[in-house]
Amino acid sequence: MTMLLQIDGKDVKASEGMTVLEAAREAGIEIPTLCHHDKLKPYGACRICSVEVERKGKTRIVASCGFPVEDGMVVRTRSPRLDRIRKVILELVALTTMVEGEVAGEMKKAAKEYGADIHRFESRFRAKPTRCILCGQCVRYCAEVVGQHAIGFMGRGIERRPVFFPEKARACLTCQACFNLCPTGKIPSETDFVVFDGFSVDDYLAGNP
Ligand code: FES
Repeated sequence: MTMLLQIDGKDVKASEGMTVLEAAREAGIEIPTLCHHDKLKPYGACRICSVEVERKGKTRIVASCGFPVEDGMVVRTRSPRLDRIRKVILELVALTTMVEGEVAGEMKKAAKEYGADIHRFESRFRAKPTRCILCGQCVRYCAEVVGQHAIGFMGRGIERRPVFFPEKARACLTCQACFNLCPTGKIPSETDFVVFDGFSVDDYLAGNP
């Protein structure tokens, strides 16, 4: 079934079951994402893709990557409120992803676009610089698309981080599909990326041990 909605004042046709993000992108309207990948199920972790959705006179803020289109829906992808939300998300995420005062990858692009001050919360919060935002793109892509499960999450709370599993990491030698997905540039640039038995993924990629 075809639905008609309005995104940023533009009439957009979409099929039932599509998300707002998919409909917007198909219409050439860009919405920033950090945890989304077209080949993966919506994850809803970062909320940077938030948009304003108006329905029956009520406005809600929803994560566009997982929100289905509805007929007659009015969507705004930019507004002072949305820009503020995205700016603060980026400033908070920067706390753990900054390396030597800089962020990398998609984070860098988005921080520039939304005027995020990546140092804003530095003096108020102490955060471990993991350079990971736990978007899970690497973990989910390896499991859902590649079918290898060579990388997974380990630890809880602030200790939670993705790790390569030694017994599977050799598959990474020929695959490396997750290397370009990381929105912060952690993979593969970080050489201290931990695996269970103390060897780094670089050791595995180099064929050692
Ligand atoms: S891209 Fe939608 S919540 Fe992260």
